[in-house]
Amino acid sequence: MTSTDRQAGSLGQVAVIIPTYNERDNLEPIVGRLRTAVPAAHILVVDDGSPDGTGEIADKLAAADPHIHVLHRAGKSGLGTAYIAGFTWALEHGYGVLVEHDADGSHDPADLPKMLTALEDADLVIGSRYVPGGTVVNWPRSREALSRGANVYVRMMLGIGVHDATAGFRAYRAATLRAIDLDQVESQGYCFQVDLTLRTAEQGFRIREVPITFTERARGASKMSQSVVLEALWRVAQWGVARRLGRRPKPPRA
Ligand code: GDD
Ligand code: MN
Repeated sequence: MTSTDRQAGSLGQVAVIIPTYNERDNLEPIVGRLRTAVPAAHILVVDDGSPDGTGEIADKLAAADPHIHVLHRAGKSGLGTAYIAGFTWALEHGYGVLVEHDADGSHDPADLPKMLTALEDADLVIGSRYVPGGTVVNWPRSREALSRGANVYVRMMLGIGVHDATAGFRAYRAATLRAIDLDQVESQGYCFQVDLTLRTAEQGFRIREVPITFTERARGASKMSQSVVLEALWRVAQWGVARRLGRRPKPPRA
């Protein structure tokens, strides 16, 4: 029995949720790498009606492997709502660990076993670029500056001691997400990651960061846009003000 299989015993079955929009060339390789790295885990692809046929590729993979599942949504509705749909499905199906994972190869499935091990002593594990040992490969300097700046801004506004609050490679215990009212989460784009980090911290849950290497995608296009950045700036500012006015609980510093 591998250590991952043992964790499937203590924390429950693992569901890796992969949101996709136009990831035709990326989906099959990443699913294959995940199946190899964590053979006991199940995979849920949440596709937003990708015009490039990613949804059909996901259906083909699911038909050939009982560990692979697909949720089809009608149109592109944002990363945040895709994860909420995926979390809701996985909680309904009794999974004990819910993992967030990008389709585009930026996250290395080989990092997942150490994240699952860390979850034994945590309620949320973040695969972090900005703790010692973590790195970003192949990002233009401007994108790394945006990401690092966003994290400084989040720490200042929200007072949470997390170094990579926008990270998209994470493992949640089911109990953590059950304690969060997912219907109340309004964030649509990437600030969804900050939103859930904040809600997790406010509930007093233990957050651990594990260093990872984030590698910019080789194929396909990023869905990052100006509106995604503006949504994040605006919402984080609102949360920060609400906290200072005592309208949100003060998270214990990690
Ligand atoms: N279903 C669905 N709907 N999937 C989406 C959508 C959407 O509207 N938007 C993006 N995705 C999927 C992509 O297909 C990919 O699998 C994953 O979400 C990440 O999208 P990217 O466009 O590659 O994101 P990124 O590389 O710019 O951002 C990554 O790093 C950020 C932190 O720097 C992600 O991990 C973000 O979550 C993270 O905040
Ligand atoms: Mn990406």
